Amino acid sequence: MRRLICLVSVRLLSVVALFAAANGGSGVLAADVAQINLTEWTPPDISSVGDDAFGKLVKYGYALMTDTANQIGPMVSDPARRYSGNNLSCQNCHLKAGTQPYAMPLTGVWGQFPQYRGREGEVGTLEDRINGCMERSMNGRALPLGGREMKAFLAFTKWASTGIPDGAKLTGAGALNVKEPGRAADLANGRQVYAQVCATCHGNDGLGQRAAGGNSYQFPPLWGPDSYNNGAGMARLLSAAAFIKHNMPLGTTYAAPVLSDQDAYDVAGFINSAERPQRANLDRDFPNRLQKPVDTAYGPYADDFSPEQHKLGPFDPIRAKVKELAAQAAAQR
Ligand code: HEC
Ligand code: HEC
Repeated sequence: MRRLICLVSVRLLSVVALFAAANGGSGVLAADVAQINLTEWTPPDISSVGDDAFGKLVKYGYALMTDTANQIGPMVSDPARRYSGNNLSCQNCHLKAGTQPYAMPLTGVWGQFPQYRGREGEVGTLEDRINGCMERSMNGRALPLGGREMKAFLAFTKWASTGIPDGAKLTGAGALNVKEPGRAADLANGRQVYAQVCATCHGNDGLGQRAAGGNSYQFPPLWGPDSYNNGAGMARLLSAAAFIKHNMPLGTTYAAPVLSDQDAYDVAGFINSAERPQRANLDRDFPNRLQKPVDTAYGPYADDFSPEQHKLGPFDPIRAKVKELAAQAAAQR
């Protein structure tokens, strides 16, 4: 029996060697990393979750994702449970309870952490990442690590990732980038796109439209005091353009975008030029300035480009400069 296993593993080894040769000997073998295409993946169904202890926590996580404002928003009756600072829902961005491909889905995210994050300059856990959105997208405060709410978000994310191996390479995760027009965002065009395509739902004033009952929104605000703060991912032009092009107006998917790359870029610049809550101490983000995304609208920067250009582009000249600075820093080491 031992012999047989040995023979089998020798055979496997030679297959692997052949494969490596066919791949030009590239270090990582495709066969080693599971590849999951979220655009062809059927996420689990919340109605099939049971009432055991784990199931209850998953269901609470689902409620927190989809009805955040009424669960932990700034207007809930118990002051101790007012964790978010605005009345958005996680689902307003992580569409369809975090299942929509290219709308920053949570499907498979369980197996992607811990991971290095440039914003914090250290390896972060999934809890850190959730609290990142709590403090920025939700303009609120961090959830206590041992509390029921954090456990519920974790249980929900684990359940939403059912069947996806840890560390799998995901297609459909995050958001799909737009092709940059190689100029600064044209705010006049952005304003026009907004008026023509977005204002019917999000309002001429950008403040959205409340849902009939409760504190949440039928159409969430895009700026103003109840929106995400200036430290949020969505406050970066390229992140917002990526989300908007492939998910807005409501009902749009990555497969059939409505806006052109240029219109998405311009309207993202327009939205993020409006007033929104300001987060304190943002200068502490990205302790390694060379890792700061080029479209981060707040300094300090490794380069000398203006905050205005970091906010509205064009970004390629910044990228080129940062690359040069990174090469210099590496040479000095
Ligand atoms: C205003 C939009 C918005 C809201 C609301 C929001 N997020 Fe996010 N979230 C993002 C964006 C954009 C990213 C990814 C880009 C980034 O931040 O760099 C992200 C990333 C994440 C990630 C990491 C996903 C990955 O692929 O690694 C998690 C987990 C997450 N959010 C959880 C939450 C939770 C939980 C809530 C509600 C408490 C929430 N988010 C609310 C916009 C939002
Ligand atoms: C038909 C109505 C409708 C139109 C038109 C529309 N949106 Fe939205 N938008 C929504 C809804 C509803 C959500 C929240 C999705 C959810 O909770 O399922 C949303 C979410 C968003 C979000 C993330 C949440 C937030 O509040 O920041 C952004 C950004 C956004 N829309 C931008 C736009 C832009 C830009 C346009 C125009 C190009 C646009 N939308 C057009 C209905 C619309």
